Amino acid sequence: MRIGNIDIDRPLCLAPMEDVTDPPFRALCKENGADLLYTEFVSGEALIRNIARVTQKMELSPSERPVAIQIYGSAEESMERAAAIAQEAGADFIDINCGCWVKKIAGRGDGAGLLRDLHRFEMVVRSVLKGTTLPVTVKTRLGWDQDTIVILDVARMLQDLGVGALTVHCRTRVQGYSGVADWSWLPRIKQVSDIPLIGNGDIKTPEDADTCFRLGCDGLMIGRGAIQNPWIFRHIRHYLDTGEILPDMPLRERFTLCIRHLRAQADYRGERRGVLSFRKNYAAYLKGVPNIAQLRRSLMELEETELIVERLEQFLKEQEA
Ligand SMILES: Cc1cc2nc3c(=O)[nH]c(=O)nc-3n(C[C@H](O)[C@H](O)[C@H](O)COP(=O)(O)O)c2cc1C
Repeated sequence: MRIGNIDIDRPLCLAPMEDVTDPPFRALCKENGADLLYTEFVSGEALIRNIARVTQKMELSPSERPVAIQIYGSAEESMERAAAIAQEAGADFIDINCGCWVKKIAGRGDGAGLLRDLHRFEMVVRSVLKGTTLPVTVKTRLGWDQDTIVILDVARMLQDLGVGALTVHCRTRVQGYSGVADWSWLPRIKQVSDIPLIGNGDIKTPEDADTCFRLGCDGLMIGRGAIQNPWIFRHIRHYLDTGEILPDMPLRERFTLCIRHLRAQADYRGERRGVLSFRKNYAAYLKGVPNIAQLRRSLMELEETELIVERLEQFLKEQEA
């Protein structure tokens, strides 16, 4: 699949996820086989106002390339300027978020709100294309609701505009995360356009990935499956190449990754914020481990990285004994 001069066969992409896909998490997924990375979404308006908390989200490191900065908004002028700022920040391509379903964003016409006004959708894409010389991609949903599925029109429009790739989360805005992703739209999208298609929604296992490629996707994007299992990319790639399911990662390896990830998070966000925000990540590393009630309680209480590391190492020693 090609996006500009990025050429990767059947890329596995880490989905943009607010408060999740920060640099430490992106680095972890990259090491574990993710081919394309995206930043968390950043507001076009906030970028042009140079709000530090937002511009920090565009910090990229050379080892994570190719990487996209994802921007959102529905005001043409600010999206054009935001695209230029994202290019200046070093992105390899710019992704436009046209799928965010949360009320405060979609309700004012940004994110998935664009699916209710395809003229505005088109104008936003045109402005981003005008603001940058980098490839531009779009991530969206099937439509606003079940009665107004517009994804086929969107795919045709984006192809005509010269967009580099289209990622589709196969749910409507009204669905949020309810129900299941309807992958049956993927081959229908491929029928109406040649734009590289990245399938998204509920891809949690190597077999799911295989199914989506068979449905015609050129690439896949994984979100929650990577939070639960950051090494999912490596497992999917192995399955696609060999047909074999890799065994789960041994506990010691998992704990080593966990400790490295925790330290990176504390370095990136500062000790206290890093430790607190890391609490959502323990589940991935502790999945299936027996007798963890007490360990989990300590992890939720401790606020210093090195105390947590000690506690994890102590638990590991007990398990291995
Ligand atoms: C915590 C969280 C934050 C998210 N933030 C973003 C975001 O910043 N930009 C975006 O396009 N999608 C965002 N999403 C949606 C995901 O990128 C993805 O489309 C969705 O989770 C469906 O894929 P999955 O079933 O693999 O998780 C977010 C999802 C989650 C769970």
